[in-house]
Amino acid sequence: MLNTAIKAARRAATVIQRASFDVDRISVTEKQHNDFVTDVDQAAEQAIIETLLKAYPDHAILAEESGASANLNDESEFAWIIDPIDGTTNFMHGYPNYCVSIALAQRGIVTQAVIYDPVRNDLYTASKGAGAYLNDKRIRVTKHDRLANTLLCSGHGAGPRALAEYMKMYGVVAERCQAVRSAGSAALELANVAAGRSDGFYEKGLKAWDIAAGSLLVTEAGGIVGEFNGESDYLHKGDIIAASPKVFGQMVTLLSPFA
Ligand code: IPD
Ligand code: CA
Repeated sequence: MLNTAIKAARRAATVIQRASFDVDRISVTEKQHNDFVTDVDQAAEQAIIETLLKAYPDHAILAEESGASANLNDESEFAWIIDPIDGTTNFMHGYPNYCVSIALAQRGIVTQAVIYDPVRNDLYTASKGAGAYLNDKRIRVTKHDRLANTLLCSGHGAGPRALAEYMKMYGVVAERCQAVRSAGSAALELANVAAGRSDGFYEKGLKAWDIAAGSLLVTEAGGIVGEFNGESDYLHKGDIIAASPKVFGQMVTLLSPFA
């Protein structure tokens, strides 16, 4: 199943990279204020779904642009959770930070994860219980234990409320670590935590397709993922903290007032 997901992600990436050479020709629709979908998101998503359903016609689908398949429910034995382009705003502008994210949930538990960054040709994979990998090399979260030594990442969704809350949290967190970065792709931020390229990630108001694959990468790389109050229902809640174990506890202390 992981191999099928990799095949699907690579097919989507071919569609995405072909379009990335001429971003002025991409057709953009605004779903709501500052929340966009392009024809490329839709074509990439179709390529992913076709590849997955060809191999597994009975599996359920939850995809950012086309929504839930009729057979999706909490009891679905196999459900694919798909974000064809995480970082659509970046992609539209030609800002090179976006990825394809595909996860498989078995009865609600994420067991397979693929994140593919077509700009850097970085393929992140994880299977539950078998570790996390970047281009076939094992990856692990950082060993930093003091918040003061960390580089953290964050982001915010569309709308003034999300922005206002992000600004408040930024003020609290930036004072306590070395730096906070926001590069516009939650899935890639989680992959960066898994690969030890940053120490932690936090964001509120995300969707399952933004975080399903990345959260398995982080836990399989030795990190912890939870809600702002430290609890574990982040996939449904959409508010997430992901970090190495020692940093996670300190982030929860700092961010639990925003839960
Ligand atoms: C967005 C990105 C962004 C995050 C937003 C998401 P999209 O996903 O992950 O980093 O801040 O909340 O909606 O729309 O590019 O797939
Ligand atoms: Ca997304």
